[in-house]
Amino acid sequence: MQTSGSGSRNPGNDTRAPIGSDPRSDAVAHRAPIPVRRPDLALSPTLPRYWNGGRPFATHFFDALSSTFPDGEASFVRSVQHYRGRIEDPELARAVQAFVGQEAQHRKQHGAHLDLLLGQGYSGLAKRNRITRASLRLFERHAPRAALASTASLEHLTAILARRLLGDSERWCGEMDPRMAALLRWHALEEAEHKAVAFDVLAAVAPGYGRRVMALVGNSLGLAIEVLDRTVYMLWKDGLLFRRETWREGWDFLLGRDGFLRGLGADYRAWFRRDFHPDDEDDRPLIEHWRNRFAA
Ligand SMILES: [Fe+2]
Ligand SMILES: [Fe+2]
Repeated sequence: MQTSGSGSRNPGNDTRAPIGSDPRSDAVAHRAPIPVRRPDLALSPTLPRYWNGGRPFATHFFDALSSTFPDGEASFVRSVQHYRGRIEDPELARAVQAFVGQEAQHRKQHGAHLDLLLGQGYSGLAKRNRITRASLRLFERHAPRAALASTASLEHLTAILARRLLGDSERWCGEMDPRMAALLRWHALEEAEHKAVAFDVLAAVAPGYGRRVMALVGNSLGLAIEVLDRTVYMLWKDGLLFRRETWREGWDFLLGRDGFLRGLGADYRAWFRRDFHPDDEDDRPLIEHWRNRFAA
């Protein structure tokens, strides 16, 4: 697996599909196989505390996100598997199997990262995860359709973040420790590869525009609070929470002129179109580019 920060800039912009091609009909009618990879990312306690260019906020933002994945991904899998017996399309059934395999690997690798964070003294993350785990279990038991919609909506968010990260990887990952850059790029590639699976299962077994809309609104808010809470917690543990410099760095990183979250509105709002499908946005050139890089 290639881990260096070198490579073409903006492959997503450089390699768009020809105008007139219809990624949605191609991809849905002939679902591309989704490989399950088992990368060796060699995460170890030698990982620097501020592995993202020495920047505390930009590091802890990704730490916070990463620490939610082990329990989040397990819930994604359970919510989709709950309906496995009702999936009639054999191609979708195969895609679900691959989705489960990929998410299990994400859970494992982000679990290894979480262990490092716990080892660095951020024990409050484990407490937060225990609460999240219990809440998710309850949610899945009592509202399985809403849980599936929730998974599909969070997959929309991860697909957007994946497109951002892979579309200009040097900009976002260039200053990262190569092991964390590899973790995030690999995860982003697989999120792009399976972005439509939970959505298609939802469309097959529990369609409904209202449920879909509510799921994205609720989960956007929930995820933002969760990530901010964990970022603030880690900065507090570091004694950096009340420094002006910390928040200036955080603002520039997230919302500044070239901020990580800037310019994502159109992608985000696409979900609210009644005829939205994840494959409307053609990520195939981006996926191809990164598959080749990882294969190399
Ligand atoms: Fe994942
Ligand atoms: Fe996913």
